[in-house]
Amino acid sequence: ASTYPFFGEHQSGIITPAQDRLHFAAFDVNDISRDELIELLRDWSYAAARMTAGQAAGEYGPAGGPYDAPPDDTGEALDLPPGGLTITFGFGPSLFDDRFGLASKRPTALIDLPKFPSDALLPELVGGDICIQACSDDPQVAVHAIRNLSRIAFGRATLRWSQLGFGRTSSTTQAQTTPRNLFGFKDGTANLRAEDTEGVNEHVWAASGDGTAWMAGGSYLVSRKIRMTIETWDRTSLREQETIFGRTKGEGAPLSGGGEFTDPDFEQTGRDDAPLIDDASHVKLAHPDTHGGAQILRRGYNFVDGNDELGRLNAGLFFISFQRDPETQFVPIQLALSRNDLMNEYVRYVGSAIFAVPPGASSSSFIGAGMFD
Ligand code: HEM
Repeated sequence: ASTYPFFGEHQSGIITPAQDRLHFAAFDVNDISRDELIELLRDWSYAAARMTAGQAAGEYGPAGGPYDAPPDDTGEALDLPPGGLTITFGFGPSLFDDRFGLASKRPTALIDLPKFPSDALLPELVGGDICIQACSDDPQVAVHAIRNLSRIAFGRATLRWSQLGFGRTSSTTQAQTTPRNLFGFKDGTANLRAEDTEGVNEHVWAASGDGTAWMAGGSYLVSRKIRMTIETWDRTSLREQETIFGRTKGEGAPLSGGGEFTDPDFEQTGRDDAPLIDDASHVKLAHPDTHGGAQILRRGYNFVDGNDELGRLNAGLFFISFQRDPETQFVPIQLALSRNDLMNEYVRYVGSAIFAVPPGASSSSFIGAGMFD
């Protein structure tokens, strides 16, 4: 499909097929009232519903409105199909404070992320009151969405940080082929997929019995900006590269044998009695068997933000995962990786954020309405 509905039981952009491009933005809400925040979310929902349907952000469009007012759409997506545009909203811990009378509405699962051992976070790339994830197969459409939502928020919310991504690093449906990340490895092989309804219900969607009724049908998003030291990686032997992930670089098969979709066998040993998949490999440390069955839905993107002053590519992976309960799913996996992952020598975690992603809105309502009841 080239369009996904904005309104519905769940927000699009989670289990809908991962598109090729991302523009992700984190906003801080200005000093406005509770009613003004509600108005902002209404305005955003209205524009998001229009844009995902392939329409202009406002009813007049880029060239049809009053001549003496700024157009209600900036225009750069005017002739472009939406490319499967999805716009997904999330609320950060800092939104749930006394400013808006929302302190008692903070979802119990919306924890403050702990400090992970290998984090080297840059404060300007952390947190945010509200996030908007715009994904499309066309980068200009994704950027247009964030630009117009920022424009609509003028005076009410301010961009805190944002990230462009290209080349999805996961598959979220069975029909999609597995893409590759900037280390050159297939990424997304063992991801949760939309067709696995049972797995998605167990690991992705919040339920009313989880402690926060208004979040039922929603999820929790964790984003991590992970810089790769590409230049060092590119001088590393193929043997070491495969050892780090526990998979082959070509096919993406586990080093214990089989094809891409064969389950890894962590018990298999080689001639020296050492396991064929290293105990400190990324796949061993992230695997559900290492975490009592915990799984996450990954939906990240590659990024290259130009280069740094030393002439190195400022590149890496903008990791995004959705889960029902970050504390029992994302946190233990990230802790294991932060402590022991062989990959750590080649990556640096520089950005981090967590957001409660509310359920989808009905067409007569707006995103997040449930937290104002
Ligand atoms: C699997 C790469 C960060 C969680 C994989 C695989 C690759 C990979 C190549 C194997 C193929 C697959 O099943 O998708 C990377 C890279 C990262 C990164 C390059 C950062 C630069 C993370 C982070 C987490 C994570 C931050 C979570 C905290 C997982 C999980 C699996 C996985 C859960 C599946 C393990 C399994 O069930 O076999 N990753 N990853 N990854 N990764 Fe990552």
